[in-house]
Amino acid sequence: MEHRNRLRVVVIIASTRTGRFGPTVAGWLVERAGRHPDLETDLVDLAEADLPATLTDHDEEPPAAVRALAPRLAAADAFIVVTPEYNHGFPAPLKTAIDWYYEEWHAKPVAIVSYGRESGGRHAAAQLRQVFGELHAVAIRDTVSLSRYWNDFTADGGWPKPAAECNTTVETMLDQLAWWARALSEARTASPYQA
Ligand SMILES: Cc1cc2nc3c(=O)[nH]c(=O)nc-3n(C[C@H](O)[C@H](O)[C@H](O)COP(=O)(O)O)c2cc1C
Repeated sequence: MEHRNRLRVVVIIASTRTGRFGPTVAGWLVERAGRHPDLETDLVDLAEADLPATLTDHDEEPPAAVRALAPRLAAADAFIVVTPEYNHGFPAPLKTAIDWYYEEWHAKPVAIVSYGRESGGRHAAAQLRQVFGELHAVAIRDTVSLSRYWNDFTADGGWPKPAAECNTTVETMLDQLAWWARALSEARTASPYQA
């Protein structure tokens, strides 16, 4: 059987507020991605990364927190953004995090896992497609969308329920992400991406 190197997926927790649900979604996702034969994960929690909210000018050295996260993003073959929806958008700390970096996103696939009330975070996901397009990143088609996620807790507090739809949608999304990550990794190796 052909041996293939695992692809590195950075999973980003976009929610930073106290009492957030984001880490529960991300924990489940990391566990599911860990079962995929082609993927390994690196979890980036924006609450811990503590990136400054104010951007610096082009010729200034980035702040220490920005420099500390850069190698982890640069080493990624793919990203999964775990985002809630706030007022039909994605959280401001996620936009700031995206804006701090540039080449780190280039020619890499991005999968979006969104959650919220009835819409399941789809407005936030649509905005992210637009933003990542500007950064030469490829938002893959299939997403995981968790609407009214609180209905998917089990009686003992576990999440998600075995019958929850996300248990199947996540597999399709991870397969697509792995395909794009492999294809773009090989393409970047063959010929460096020119932005
Ligand atoms: C400021 C704010 C605005 C919100 N706006 C929306 C919204 O527009 N659509 C939606 O489906 N849910 C909305 N919600 C519900 C959140 O999606 C839900 O509370 C979710 O748990 C937030 O993610 P977090 O707990 O990881 O921060 C909003 C929540 C907050 C705190």
